[in-house]
Amino acid sequence: MSERKEAKVSLEDIALQNEYIEIMKAENEEDYEKTHKKKKALIVTYGCQMNEHDSEKLMAMLDNMSYEQADNIDDADLIIYNTCCVRENAELKVYGNLGQLKPKKAKKKDMIIAVCGCMMQQPHVVNEIKKKYRHVDIIFGTHNLHKFPQLLVACRQKQTMVVDVWESEGEVVEGLKAARRFSLKGFVNIMYGCNNFCTYCIVPYTRGRERSRKPEDIVNEVRELGQEGTKEITLLGQNVNSYGKTLEEKVDFAQLLRMLNEVEGIERIRFMTSHPKDLSYDLIEAMRDCDKVCNHMHLPVQSGSSRVLKKMNRHYTREDYLKIVHDLKREIPGVAISTDIIVGFPGETEEDFNDTLSLVEEVGYDSSFTFLYSIREGTPAAKYEDQVPEDVKHERFNRLLNVLNPIINDNNKKLEGKTLKVLVEGLSKTDKTKLMGRTETSKLVNFSGDKELIGQVVDVKITKAKTFSLEGEAL
Ligand code: 5AD
Ligand code: SF4
Repeated sequence: MSERKEAKVSLEDIALQNEYIEIMKAENEEDYEKTHKKKKALIVTYGCQMNEHDSEKLMAMLDNMSYEQADNIDDADLIIYNTCCVRENAELKVYGNLGQLKPKKAKKKDMIIAVCGCMMQQPHVVNEIKKKYRHVDIIFGTHNLHKFPQLLVACRQKQTMVVDVWESEGEVVEGLKAARRFSLKGFVNIMYGCNNFCTYCIVPYTRGRERSRKPEDIVNEVRELGQEGTKEITLLGQNVNSYGKTLEEKVDFAQLLRMLNEVEGIERIRFMTSHPKDLSYDLIEAMRDCDKVCNHMHLPVQSGSSRVLKKMNRHYTREDYLKIVHDLKREIPGVAISTDIIVGFPGETEEDFNDTLSLVEEVGYDSSFTFLYSIREGTPAAKYEDQVPEDVKHERFNRLLNVLNPIINDNNKKLEGKTLKVLVEGLSKTDKTKLMGRTETSKLVNFSGDKELIGQVVDVKITKAKTFSLEGEAL
């Protein structure tokens, strides 16, 4: 068993991983010579886009090691769970999945099971896996994703559980290619980590302190994507609005958007997530001025009560938030606003909850992710004594959806009869005779049109609005 704690990643480290990739590739190819069956790997991803993108990076490594993508668990020689610990539910699912793999592994001894991601940055989770899930082969964390090839080789050689989780973040790791699942759209990390310590949130403990990538590295990556045919990029960071604070040469997020707007080939630029406390007027102006930056803002509010926001350590009031919404709507006509809301934060009273309901009405959201507050061990709010009973949380959650859904539906209804620009992503999932794509405001549209349109931005006339999608016809 190897356990190492360090935080520096150099270019040599990345080069070293390429050597391990070659070792695994040779092993897999040799195996193919004998069996005429390619080794297959499956990555199961939980959580946010950041994790999705990390999985794309792992997928690129697997590709280079000559693994084929497996369709399901039974088909896989290597399974990686990329975990999330933002809420308890996601964690329970991972434990459940690992439990189910035990009998499968007993039958298929050379199957490799790896777990990585945010859950592994919590020592109690790693201890639990070491104790109760001894059939797991490799454990690694969010800060040493690049080391996966080396850990895989070590696991093949040692036949014991390989555990390598770094306690703290390294420098920004450059040079890791991602296998883009869908080349029309690409995720691009612009920063890692978070310094905000919202009292409910585990992320600052698992993803480390905030650090930004250099603008030139980001621009180069986006330029390459543009050359490869990617049309839409989503810039990722826990709090993109504070981009640049750790850079020697100061470039802020608004300036970064203006730089990226010039990159050829890219037609749409999205970003997430924005923290209201750091959202500048410069950013609103950059959104307004840059034709490629989509008129959609994901702006988590978490609660409509200033009292609760203070206890959450969010550093803005209800009024501050509403002012930003007002400015956005004034400067960017037709802007869509989406949000995250937590129901049942400790001490949330009926009055606080009603403030959330009234805020939702006042903003008129286009979509929302709504969550039941989930106790996260190690965060300040986990120790608060005024936890809200589960039945009250559920009841408020349902009441919130009953207010939210008609608002979202009404917003969509206003689009009926309008012609919108849609980036055509492929065939519709619900009706294979139709196409599907997204509007600039990120609304899903199923519409009739020629398959040849896939990959293009086309005009679609909206004929019918539903709560979670639109229907239309290509013009
Ligand atoms: N309980 C419920 N929801 C949470 N989130 C983060 N931590 C918790 C928690 N402990 C939600 C927030 C955040 C989103 C990614 O997850 O709304 O914006
Ligand atoms: Fe968590 Fe708050 Fe950081 Fe978002 S800003 S990742 S909610 S601590």
